[in-house]
Amino acid sequence: MTVNLPPDIAAGALAATEAAAIASYRGIGRGDEKAADQLAVDAMRTGLNAIAMKGRVVIGEGERDEAPMLYIGEEVGTGEGAEFDIALDPLEGTTLTAKAMPNALAVLAIAPKGGLLYAPDTYMDKIAVGPGLPQGVVDIDRSPAENVIALAKAKGVEPQEIGVCVLDRPRHSGIIESLRSVGARVHLITDGDVAGVIYTTDPETGIDLYLGQGGAPEGVLAAAALKCVGGQFQGRLVFRNEDEKARARRIGITDLGRTYQLDELVSTDVVFSATGVTNGALVAGVKATSKGFVTETLVLDSAAKTARVVRTQHLG
Ligand code: FBP
Repeated sequence: MTVNLPPDIAAGALAATEAAAIASYRGIGRGDEKAADQLAVDAMRTGLNAIAMKGRVVIGEGERDEAPMLYIGEEVGTGEGAEFDIALDPLEGTTLTAKAMPNALAVLAIAPKGGLLYAPDTYMDKIAVGPGLPQGVVDIDRSPAENVIALAKAKGVEPQEIGVCVLDRPRHSGIIESLRSVGARVHLITDGDVAGVIYTTDPETGIDLYLGQGGAPEGVLAAAALKCVGGQFQGRLVFRNEDEKARARRIGITDLGRTYQLDELVSTDVVFSATGVTNGALVAGVKATSKGFVTETLVLDSAAKTARVVRTQHLG
């Protein structure tokens, strides 16, 4: 479905992630994940409340009883104008920020009401490739090795030339072994799989495939980015216990084993905004200058078919 999002929605999303990133700057390298996250949450909420919309958080900081702000279901915006669904992660990479490591982002996606999957805060198995490949070239139900071979064939290269981004976690040892068995290059990241998925869309990164299990909210955010720039994404929710299954059922998910295609995670046009907190491969981190702050943001708009990197000087 093509729905043109008003330009002020994209501008509002940009301002909200910029504000969250600038606020998180105070938390960089301080060793306190929660404090850094809170700074980002407060600032993003203020930013969202300045946008002329009837917004509803569908992917947020948790359920109402566990998150005082930006909880799932919270209404944001001025309350005027059209209705929008919002997926957000005010600080994607709390540990990266606390440890002053690269690739932390403030992230947000806005779509017309009903456009984003209402995903529970569980894990998700994910697979993603960038644009320009035959539909179905990789599949979440195939082994990592099979996917590398299929992708290499589609790209006309040897499997040894395929770069795969994976979160560095013990749970991924089988995936990593399978990838290396066919000679793929495995790029391990310590955190931040929204960026990990987006890397597949940029040949400069050397990453052709994203694979593995990370947060479900991050999965919907990453799918929103791919909806704008092209690419393929499949996700399947992973539940560690009955409580997580109950959370999913509470928000209306009946088929717990379903594989979601990109267009089911993000079914309408969408605006995606990601501002760098610490320096990263996608965008630079916040810089403090004598005049204020400088931020860099990736703003993607599926309806306008634009991908912009916005560098803003925040004066004063
Ligand atoms: P936070 O910013 O919430 O800490 O998330 C960082 C992150 O690395 C995500 O990018 C990823 O989806 C998730 O954590 C993976 O979870 P886990 O650290 O439990 O493996």
